[in-house]
Amino acid sequence: MGDATAIETRKLNLWYGTFQALLDVDLQIKRGIITSMIGPSGCGKSTLLRTINRINDRLGYVRTTGTVDVLGYDILDASVELVQLRKQVGMVFQRPNPLPLSVRDNVAFGYRLHEGDGGKIPHAEIDEVVEKALRDVLLWDEVKDHLHGSATDLSLEAQQKLCIARLLPVKPAVLLMDEPCSTLDPAGTQAVEELIWGLRGNYTIVLVTHNMAQARRASDECVFMLLGKVIEHRETADLFLTPTHRETADYIEGRYG
Ligand SMILES: Nc1ncnc2c1ncn2[C@@H]1O[C@H](COP(=O)(O)OP(=O)(O)O)[C@@H](O)[C@H]1O
Ligand SMILES: [Mg+2]
Repeated sequence: MGDATAIETRKLNLWYGTFQALLDVDLQIKRGIITSMIGPSGCGKSTLLRTINRINDRLGYVRTTGTVDVLGYDILDASVELVQLRKQVGMVFQRPNPLPLSVRDNVAFGYRLHEGDGGKIPHAEIDEVVEKALRDVLLWDEVKDHLHGSATDLSLEAQQKLCIARLLPVKPAVLLMDEPCSTLDPAGTQAVEELIWGLRGNYTIVLVTHNMAQARRASDECVFMLLGKVIEHRETADLFLTPTHRETADYIEGRYG
């Protein structure tokens, strides 16, 4: 795996019980860009994303074969420490899921967990970390006077920005986002999309979306999946302009519903 590759899967297969949800997935995700993942509902986008930070582990009936390398490490290996993996690979879900804590404590949570070494981190250091993360997600001006207010009182848009912000202080290399705008109105969608675009370069971002306009606007490369397989993976503009597979063309022209 070259330096330009952040995530590489080889012959990745995944079964939920007897149902096979991923079939021989070979994928190379480049470092520092945004890769979108599109395809009809049920094609395995979330499954693939969840495999990259091993959230599926907690389901006893999941079986996986093949390899997934993240930054050169085989993360399916039994010796991998999940805490370290999740520090490297942050995840954002469809529904914003802030902790029932203040805005400030949400952003500081991961930092305290990973950087605290069991000791107390100085107040001023936390302040600095919190402000930087909230600025990075374009949320600072809106919440700077409510840092001690409850995170769950924020709008859905602000909550989702907060859920992205709380990943940043531990300096992840990879951000996995599973339809992060699906609960937002058009204005919220645009705002979160802009913030994701602003993180480009500093992180390797994988963005699952059912919104093809979003994939076109907000990603450098695009992966099209169908029935558990990767059908096509190209630069986004090329995939939409000149799809090389019939199935891709059918999907982007709306023939799968
Ligand atoms: N926890 C689960 N247990 C059993 N089957 C699942 C589970 N999660 C997803 N599946 C099945 O795996 C397939 C892929 O689902 P998913 O990865 O959620 O697709 P997508 O995100 O593309 O909509 C679907 O057929 C779905 O029903
Ligand atoms: Mg999904």
